[in-house]
Amino acid sequence: MADVKIAPSILASDFSRLAEEICAVDAAGCDWIHLDVMDGHFVPNLTFGPPIIEAVRNTTSKTFDAHLMVSNPDRLLPIYAKAGCDIITVHAEVCDHLDRTLASIRELGCRAGVSLNPHMSEDCLKYVLDRLDLVLVMSVNPGFGGQSFLPSVVEKISRIKAMLDGREVDIEVDGGITAETAPLVVAAGATALVAGSAVFKGGTQEAYQANIQLIRDSVKSL
Ligand code: DX5
Ligand code: ZN
Repeated sequence: MADVKIAPSILASDFSRLAEEICAVDAAGCDWIHLDVMDGHFVPNLTFGPPIIEAVRNTTSKTFDAHLMVSNPDRLLPIYAKAGCDIITVHAEVCDHLDRTLASIRELGCRAGVSLNPHMSEDCLKYVLDRLDLVLVMSVNPGFGGQSFLPSVVEKISRIKAMLDGREVDIEVDGGITAETAPLVVAAGATALVAGSAVFKGGTQEAYQANIQLIRDSVKSL
């Protein structure tokens, strides 16, 4: 599967050298940069927001894939778009009007994504399929990097692939992705893989390149 996108999560990078770390994964051959925005409310952790995203926007031309783990995403959407996000993903359970939220993201010129926590059914996607550019399937409970992959999501990925019925919508999987778990989700239909700890281990551009290649190699024959 040559065209699976690899999206390193900068949550696992050295924040004291964030710009350098983004340059390093860019040069190491990643496809997207995954930005884990946490508000300390929807998830029990806090990370960064628009000023940081804007500050590092010019370090790379790669796609900025923003994963908003926040309780009230709607009023923030224009600020994230302005900061330079290319994809904006919201969690289904925090959107009272998911159809409207997805339409707003596209109106801002971004690609629209919906994320499903491990306990969430894919049923909520049924009537917004034509509003979607991406479905982000959480394979851990959001909030922290370095957790173990939850195998129950594999079946959910297959069901989402069937629901999408050939539409050009990425299925991205997030949490516990390694060269061992990547083949399971890609075989089920994943087209993009978020990886934090598995990419940033080693701490150098050379290590990141080898780590990304290991994940690519694990899915290339699928
Ligand atoms: C979890 C985040 C993930 C996380 C992945 O809340 O959404 O993107 O950084 O980290 P790893 O790959 O270490 O599980
Ligand atoms: Zn994420």
